[in-house]
Amino acid sequence: MIAPVKIVGIGEGLPKLIVTNKMMEQIVDTSDEWIVQRTGIKQRYILTDDTTVSISVEASKKAIEKAGLSVRDIQLVIASTIASTDRVPTLAGSVQRELGISDCPAFDVSAGCTGFIYGLVTAASLMDTLQLDNALVLAGEGISKHIDWADRSTCVLFGDGAGAIVLRRSSEGSIHYPVLMGKSDEENVLTIKNKDDDTPWYRYPSEQNTKLVMKGREVFTFASEVLADTITLLKEKCKDKPFTKIIPHQANSRIIEYVARITGFKQDQFFINLSKFANTSSASILLALWDAYTQRWLAPGDRIALIGFGSGLTWGGVVIDWTLE
Ligand code: UT7
Repeated sequence: MIAPVKIVGIGEGLPKLIVTNKMMEQIVDTSDEWIVQRTGIKQRYILTDDTTVSISVEASKKAIEKAGLSVRDIQLVIASTIASTDRVPTLAGSVQRELGISDCPAFDVSAGCTGFIYGLVTAASLMDTLQLDNALVLAGEGISKHIDWADRSTCVLFGDGAGAIVLRRSSEGSIHYPVLMGKSDEENVLTIKNKDDDTPWYRYPSEQNTKLVMKGREVFTFASEVLADTITLLKEKCKDKPFTKIIPHQANSRIIEYVARITGFKQDQFFINLSKFANTSSASILLALWDAYTQRWLAPGDRIALIGFGSGLTWGGVVIDWTLE
């Protein structure tokens, strides 16, 4: 069961450096025109001396402050990441340490670009199971560290960033109709392989590619299908009170434009901020939610669908009644 909770705080954390498409032209054989036309991306934030942990801490701090809570009130921390600073400790554990959050369950989820949706549903479910009042759910990604900066087909697409929300138990629940789904990535369409270090008992082949590798067209087809299917499924589930706005994972504006056409929604019912942040993997829905909220694209009373899709392969969504003023 999902606990009756609502979002009471939201925050963002971004690296200092903005890398424009023009700057990308200096690195690989690409053009601002190609990137904008094919993806909608104009710039991305990239980590330098900041870290996935530091931007996640910043986002979490802002979300807790916005909620009007203290770090002592947080009773659960779930962080979504595929690209944190350290393998151990977890991103959630590092945020807990840096912010001085009291002893409580703290762990990471890894579900590609759908990670925030998985984290949100897990948090709301655990708040019911463990009878908790307040939870911090965040996503932090330093994907630039896993990019092949000589591969123009991927390096122009991604950016770093973090977002966080605070969930609080409330009399009326505002998170509905969770959908979590996954299927095997038979064709290895999206991978970041680990580097295997030799052991005294085995010498691994030296030519391992440990950078992000993506079969763009295949992922485009998968993404368009599952985004459209999840919208249709959620639409069906909340016929009585339909959602009117959609915040999808920000991977490519053409995916969103295509899905808008086939699902019968208007373009302006989708929030798109790819131009500013590029694809920040599991942080993208949170950064879009934060941006939509601060731009007042979202207003209290709005019913919205959040939908993610990505590596794994994974996808999922929820419907939220927005209450934050
Ligand atoms: O977050 C996880 C989910 N990820 C996604 O949803 C990504 C889904 N895929 C996509 O967004 C698109 O497939 C891409 C943006 C990655 C690529 O767009 P596309 O329209 O599928 O292009 P393409 O891969 O078919 O490449 C078309 C051409 C190729 O040249 P030729 O073979 O036609 O001569 C590429 O070599 O564009 C070339 N190209 C580039 N040209 C300039 C590829 N990357 C670039 C580049 N700049 N950065």
